[in-house]
Amino acid sequence: MTDTTHESRGRLPRTAAVIPAAGSGQRLGPGIPKALRPLGGTPMLVHAVRAMARARAVVLVVVVAPSAEVEAVRSLLDEHPPPSGVDQLVVPGGATRQESVRSGLDVLPEDIEVVLVHDAARPLVPVDTVDAVAAAVRAGAPAVVPALPLTDTVKEVAPPSAVGAPEPVVATPDRSLLRAVQTPQGFERATLVKAHDRLAGVAEAAATDDAGLVERLGVPVVLVLGHEEAFKVTRPLDLVLAEAVLARRRLNDGF
Ligand code: C5P
Repeated sequence: MTDTTHESRGRLPRTAAVIPAAGSGQRLGPGIPKALRPLGGTPMLVHAVRAMARARAVVLVVVVAPSAEVEAVRSLLDEHPPPSGVDQLVVPGGATRQESVRSGLDVLPEDIEVVLVHDAARPLVPVDTVDAVAAAVRAGAPAVVPALPLTDTVKEVAPPSAVGAPEPVVATPDRSLLRAVQTPQGFERATLVKAHDRLAGVAEAAATDDAGLVERLGVPVVLVLGHEEAFKVTRPLDLVLAEAVLARRRLNDGF
C-alpha cells in the first residue's frame, strides 16, 4: 500500500505537481469550466488533485484555475483536503496552457527539485503511473512522459482545397513508431523552468505538452508506459467512459 506519511515523503526528492486547469473545455459543450464538472458526483479537478497527492513523492499540488474561479476552486479544495504531508495552492491561469503551467511554476518553493505537470482533464490516472513517472526522473531522466502505442493508424493531411472539402492525405507514418502521450509528465525542475523561460511567448514554439518545450532545448525526453485510464476527458463520450471507470473502481475496491 502507498505510504503517505510526511516522514516517508521526506526521504524522496521534494516533488510538486502542477495541474493546469484553466481551460474552458468547449469541446465538452457549453457550461461550467471543464475541470469543475462532476464525475461520480465529485468535480474532475478533485479527482486529478487526489491522483497527484496520493503519489509517494508529492509534497505540494499547485492548481492553476481560470482567473474568475480562483476563489471557488480554493473553497472546493478546502472541502477536499489532501493527505497529511501534502500542501495545496491555487493560482490564476493564463490565455494558453503554456502560460498556465508557467504561472504554476512561478509559485514553487525553492526546495522543490522535481515537477510533475498533470492535466486536470486526465482525472483518473492511476497512482502507479504517477509513481512510475516520478521514479524515472529520480533515476536521472530530465524529462519523462507516460505514453501508449496507438491503436488507430494515423494519416498526415494537407489543408483541403476549400472549407468542407475532403482532405488530401500526404503521408501514413509508421504506426509502430508512434506513441500517444499522456500526463503527468515529470521533469527535473531546472530543465522545465529553463524550457519555459526560453520559449515563453515564442508563438512558433507553442507546444501542446511540456515535454515538447524541453525537446526544443535539445534535452532528451524518455517515455514510460502510460495507462488506458489516464485518458483525456475531452468530448461528451469521454464523460460516459470516465463514469464507467469510476463505477468499476467502486465495485472493485470501494474507491
Ligand atoms: O485544451 P487542452 O485539452 O489541451 O487542455 C489541457 C489542459 O490544459 C486542461 O487541463 C486545461 O484546463 C489546461 N489549460 C489551462 N489554461 C489554458 C488552456 C488549457 O490551464 N489557457
